[in-house]
Amino acid sequence: MAEFVGAIDQGTTSTRFMIFDHSGDVKGIHQLEHEQILPQAGWVEHNPVEIWERTTAVVQTALNKTNLTASDLAAVGITNQRETTVVWDRTTGRPLYNAIVWQDTRTDRIASALDRDGRGDVIRQKAGLPPATYFSGGKIQWILENVDGVREAAERGDAIFGNTDTWLLWNLTGGRDGGAHVTDPTNASRTMLMNLETLDWDDELLGFFGIPRSMLPQIQPSSHPSGYGTTRANGPLGGEILLTGDLGDQQAATVGQVCFAPGEAKNTYGTGNFMLLNTGTELVRSKSGLLTTVCYKFGDEPAVYALEGSIAVTGSAVQWLRDQLGIISGAAQSESLARQVEDNGGVYFVPAFSGLFAPYWRSDARGAIVGLSRYNTNAHLARATLESICYQSRDVAEAMEKDSGVALDVLKVDGGVTANELCMQIQADVLGVPVSRPVVAETTALGAAYAAGLAVGFWKNTDELRSNWNESKRWLPQWSDEQRTTGYERWKKAVTRTLDWVD
Ligand code: G3P
Repeated sequence: MAEFVGAIDQGTTSTRFMIFDHSGDVKGIHQLEHEQILPQAGWVEHNPVEIWERTTAVVQTALNKTNLTASDLAAVGITNQRETTVVWDRTTGRPLYNAIVWQDTRTDRIASALDRDGRGDVIRQKAGLPPATYFSGGKIQWILENVDGVREAAERGDAIFGNTDTWLLWNLTGGRDGGAHVTDPTNASRTMLMNLETLDWDDELLGFFGIPRSMLPQIQPSSHPSGYGTTRANGPLGGEILLTGDLGDQQAATVGQVCFAPGEAKNTYGTGNFMLLNTGTELVRSKSGLLTTVCYKFGDEPAVYALEGSIAVTGSAVQWLRDQLGIISGAAQSESLARQVEDNGGVYFVPAFSGLFAPYWRSDARGAIVGLSRYNTNAHLARATLESICYQSRDVAEAMEKDSGVALDVLKVDGGVTANELCMQIQADVLGVPVSRPVVAETTALGAAYAAGLAVGFWKNTDELRSNWNESKRWLPQWSDEQRTTGYERWKKAVTRTLDWVD
């Protein structure tokens, strides 16, 4: 029996292939970045061909580095940046446009029109999402309306859509030579096109965006015993392996953090932050600015849902300090600089660079730094940046508590920013609950491996996965209640300064 499971993690800035053993420990990894194409303000694109080439390279290099072959892998799972939209021609295998990335705001007119005539409320009800530029539906509409020949190709059945999971699964299973055109409900639930109750594409929603159903992939379980298809022997894995796991990256991290019981939550700190709370098989509709999304669907079992607080800018605010302001040379320095001061010196930074996502959903917001006096230094700004990550997470944690009625007792964290010990301490201080980081911080890829491995019996059940989870570090709140309350009140006031900025 093969001893390992592989996972492709196709993220916003890079793609990695990871190999895990039965304990969930990392056996091998290789990762490569891809270009961020920024053609004009607010537009963000990726080249799908480059993403496929990077995927090929990371799979082959990780296998070579570990001296493993396809036959050592019991199954392979895939996880991906969600919402990012690829439209390609199934007869040529060529993309018809660059991938439009989740952060791209070019569809703001499409999104705001939805709320003017009642369609927005139907989307909220059926898809669990507020109309926003973030999701795939408007991006597909934009491509159909703005790229020559795509509408005709779609009507002929040649132009097909997928998020990057679908694009990679199609290519891995043969591409134009019979590739599988498939996705899972977690990815489909980010399009504004899937009905959360039926877990199928919804004709009324498709009609809102003028999208032919024939463009859309078949929705199959996130952990799929019969598989989405088999890799080709002449493909990157160099052998035939069943692809049996597919989850959007934030849902994969929730699985990797073994949040299998209702009330369990995780927060992933990457480019943005994404907090997901498992609500079980019950579909909880948010009244507080959160998204209702599919958390996972394993085989024939009923789908499990989640409430999600999506925050667009957190780790990328630290990058902004480095790239645009030049006050730090790398992410690690944000911690040492912020440690030079004991507090924020009265400074609050709201990094609303592309509006505010959850729980505000205000595309007219823009970033603000408030509370400055001549006393303040770069160190206060660095500290305010780390605090902004934590306060935004408090905003969504509060919304979750309101929607679910369940108070958070511990926050499980993962992702790059969790290496910043000061930021994690501030997170515990701002929330007033302990913050806990697991030993295997690569929970996104791990979650995709778990979905794939469960499908083929590599892991027996979710209890077995739970026993793989071990804590590496826990941060306990140190602020007084008064400090916590005053700090959060000032943060909320700072947020009001960012609104109504764009007409
Ligand atoms: O919804 C966007 C999210 O899936 C992106 O995650 O980690 O690729 O920035 P990440």
